[in-house]
Amino acid sequence: LSKARTQGRTIPTFSASDLWDFEQLLNFEPTSSTLTYINNNFTTYTIMNAIRLELDNATSFLVNGELDEVNANVPAAQKALEAQTCPGNDFLGWMHLPSSITPDFLSEIKACAATLREHCDTIVVAGIGGSYLGARAVIEALGNQFEWLTNDGTNPVILFAGNNIGEDYLFELCEYLRHRKFGVINISKSGTTTETALAFRLLKKQCEEQRGKETARKVIVAVTDAKKGAARTTADKEGYTSFIIPDNVGGRFSVLTPVGLLPIACAGFDIDALVKGAADMERECSTEYNIATQYAAVRNALYRAGKKIEILVNFQPKLHYMNEWWKQLYGESEGKDGVGIFPAAVDFTTDLHSMGQWIQEGERTIFETVVSVEEANHTLHFPADEENLDGLNFLAGKRVDEVNKMAELGTRLAHVDGGVPNLRIVLPQLNEYYLGQLIYFFERACGVSGLLLDVNPFNQPGVEAYKKNMFALLGKPGYEAETEALKARLAE
Ligand code: PA5
Repeated sequence: LSKARTQGRTIPTFSASDLWDFEQLLNFEPTSSTLTYINNNFTTYTIMNAIRLELDNATSFLVNGELDEVNANVPAAQKALEAQTCPGNDFLGWMHLPSSITPDFLSEIKACAATLREHCDTIVVAGIGGSYLGARAVIEALGNQFEWLTNDGTNPVILFAGNNIGEDYLFELCEYLRHRKFGVINISKSGTTTETALAFRLLKKQCEEQRGKETARKVIVAVTDAKKGAARTTADKEGYTSFIIPDNVGGRFSVLTPVGLLPIACAGFDIDALVKGAADMERECSTEYNIATQYAAVRNALYRAGKKIEILVNFQPKLHYMNEWWKQLYGESEGKDGVGIFPAAVDFTTDLHSMGQWIQEGERTIFETVVSVEEANHTLHFPADEENLDGLNFLAGKRVDEVNKMAELGTRLAHVDGGVPNLRIVLPQLNEYYLGQLIYFFERACGVSGLLLDVNPFNQPGVEAYKKNMFALLGKPGYEAETEALKARLAE
C-alpha cells in the first residue's frame, strides 16, 4: 500500500494511511464534489457522484509486481497524451473536446435537431463505424425499446443505414420509408466511405422524389469534413445544413462531435447532460493516475499475464450497442503490430445461455469487464400467484432488477471461481450524464492503454486492406493494376 496518492485533492482530515480505512472514507463528506484516490492493490476506484471501477476480482489474479510494472509506465503515457507527443498526436482532438464544447455550439445542434424533428416522423442516420456506433449506443441505451412500435409521434423513429451493404436491408428500408416523412443525416468523415455513400445515394433520391427537392434540402443534413470528400461536395452544392467533424478527431473518438450529438438530440435526449458528464470525467482524468489509467493498467497487466481476450459484459439489453461501440474503440485502437487485447462482448443473461459455457470453462485466456447499472429507471415487481404453478413464488414481491443483480453477482462469482478475472464498472443510473462519463472514461482509458501496449492507438491502417480488394473487384477507376492482379490470383 505504499503508493497512495491523493492526486492533489484537498482531503483535510485524512493522512494517506487513513485512506485505507474504508469506513472513514465512506463517512467522509468531501468539500469538493469529487474525491479520487489510488491504490494499486486496493479494491475499488471511486469518484463520488460518478461511475465506479472495481478491480479487486481482477488484481487478485495478478502476482506481485505485475501491476506495478505496468503502472510505472502510466505517467509517461499520460504525459505523452497531454503534451501531444505520442504516436498519432494529430488525432488528439477528442481529449479536451468535452470541456471545449460551448453552449452556443450545443444550441446550434439542438436547433438543427428541432428542425428535423418538426419536419420528419423518421430520421435515417447514414454512417458506419465511428460515424454510427456512438450515436446508436447512446440512443438505444436511453430510449424506450418499444417506442418505435407504438410510434405515437412524440419522437421521430431513428433508423440506421450505411453500415452494411445488404441488398435486402436497403430494399426493406426504402420500402418502409415510402410511407414516412423521412429525413437523413449523412455522416462520414472522409465523405467517401462506400457503405454510407451507397445508402445515401438511394436515400437522397427517394427523399427528393417523395418530399420534393425543396423539402429534401431542409431535411437532409451532412456531418463531414470541412473541405474534402463527396459528402462535403454534395452538401455544399445542394445547400444542406452541415456540421464539421474536426480533423484531429478520429472516427471512433467522434461521438461527442456532431457525429453523435446531432442524432442523439434528434432522438430527444439531453446532449447538455451528456457533454457535462464527459467534461466532468475529462477533469477527473487529468491527474497522473486516475480511474481511466487504472482500467488501462489492469487490462494491460492481465494481457501480459496471458489474458488475451477482454469480454465486455452488460446485464441490460439496452447496452448492446454500447458494447459494439466499445469493441470498435478498442479493436481499432489496439489491434495492430501483431499485438492487442481482442475485444469481445456479450449481453447477459441472454448470452449466458450461449457463450456462458465457454466463458466458464473454455481456454483460460479471457478476462471480463462488467458494465453494471446500479438503479433501474423503472420499477416492476414480480406478482404473487396463488397456484404457484411455475414455482416462482419465492420471488413474489421482489423487483425484476433484484433478480438481475443476483444473476450478475452469481455470474461474477462463478466466473472468478472459473479463472476469469473480473473488472466491474458501475453506473449509478442509465442517463445522459453517466453515459457521458462512461464514454469519456473509455476513450481516455483507450488512449492510455494503447500507449501502454506500445502501439499508435489513433490510426487504423488495417481497415484499408479489404477496401482495396473490393474496389479492385468492382473495377473502380484508379484500381486497374490491382484488378488485374486479383483476376490472375483468382484464376490460379
Ligand atoms: O474509426 C474510424 O476511423 C472508422 O471506423 C470510421 O469511422 C469508419 O470507417 C467510417 O469512416 P467515415 O466517417 O470516413 O465514413
